[in-house]
Amino acid sequence: MAPHAAREFLVGRTLLRTALSALIPHVKPGDWRFRFNSHGRPEVAPIPGVPTPVFSLAHSRGLAVTAVTWNCELGIDVERLDRFPPIHTVGPQVFSPGEMDAIKALSEPEQPRRFWDCWTLKEALSKALGLGLAFPVEKCQFRPTPDGPRVQFLPPLTDTPDRWNFAQWVHEGWLISLALAGPALEFHWHTPPRPPGDRMQRAQILEALKTNLFNIVEASRGKDIVETASMKDYGADSLEMVEVVSRTMKQLKVKVPRTELATAKNLGQVLDLFEKHAPQG
Ligand SMILES: CC(C)(COP(=O)(O)OP(=O)(O)OC[C@H]1O[C@@H](n2cnc3c(N)ncnc32)[C@H](O)[C@@H]1OP(=O)(O)O)[C@@H](O)C(=O)NCCC(=O)NCCS
Repeated sequence: MAPHAAREFLVGRTLLRTALSALIPHVKPGDWRFRFNSHGRPEVAPIPGVPTPVFSLAHSRGLAVTAVTWNCELGIDVERLDRFPPIHTVGPQVFSPGEMDAIKALSEPEQPRRFWDCWTLKEALSKALGLGLAFPVEKCQFRPTPDGPRVQFLPPLTDTPDRWNFAQWVHEGWLISLALAGPALEFHWHTPPRPPGDRMQRAQILEALKTNLFNIVEASRGKDIVETASMKDYGADSLEMVEVVSRTMKQLKVKVPRTELATAKNLGQVLDLFEKHAPQG
């Protein structure tokens, strides 16, 4: 296993064990045991006298996420939003013709996000079903609605769309999708607290700014983003600059007064302001 994969596996399992014990406190994190279904899905091995929780786990490039519950089919997936998706090569293999048409009908800057929306929803659904690669992902199709994503199953799949609920979040540049079949639920989103006194990392702020710049300003994509340059140097107009900064402030929960932002001459100075106004952990 590559070192980064080993680290993600370890972090994922630690997070999972902690989450399971938060649900059932009298079982210690180290006492959970796992077994696998025939498609490789890890599941909680039953403990006599203890209800068996259901979980799903995903990790991608530095973030591990898990969801735990009871009596439901549950799947979670995560992807970085700054990855450029192989829309025209991989897309037709995993998306239905209808989904491909819907992606192509969007403007070019909007296409990657829709790609990752559908990709992670399909992965979450396939994990909830526990089928792994045996699930024909191109035979289900997703569409956004005001009430969240909805699924449709195409023949030969005969599943019932109404039993599925989906939720999506963007967390610091990662897109997280959750698929759940069961009663409508309340979602509780836990982020481990930052150690006291630990401020938001500059690299984390830069990453979020970069993701939003790439998503909003087509001309900037794939460029090496340096602190001495301004967003204008990467092709952003003034409206796009405001959009990049507003989205980043919202994602990172940082409020920088507009009067101060107006004084920033380059990205480095924007980062200084984010650091200055970042909430203390
Ligand atoms: C098995 C699969 C779900 C793993 O996904 P991945 O993107 O490589 O990795 P993720 O981080 O998202 O998920 C890995 C976790 O999924 C879980 N997992 C593995 N097999 C699983 C299965 N059959 N069902 C549900 N969960 C599974 C494990 O917990 C694993 O983490 P761990 O090894 O640390 O315990 C995926 O490769 C797969 O088979 N997908 C099928 C759907 C498909 O074809 N997708 C293409 C794009 S839509």
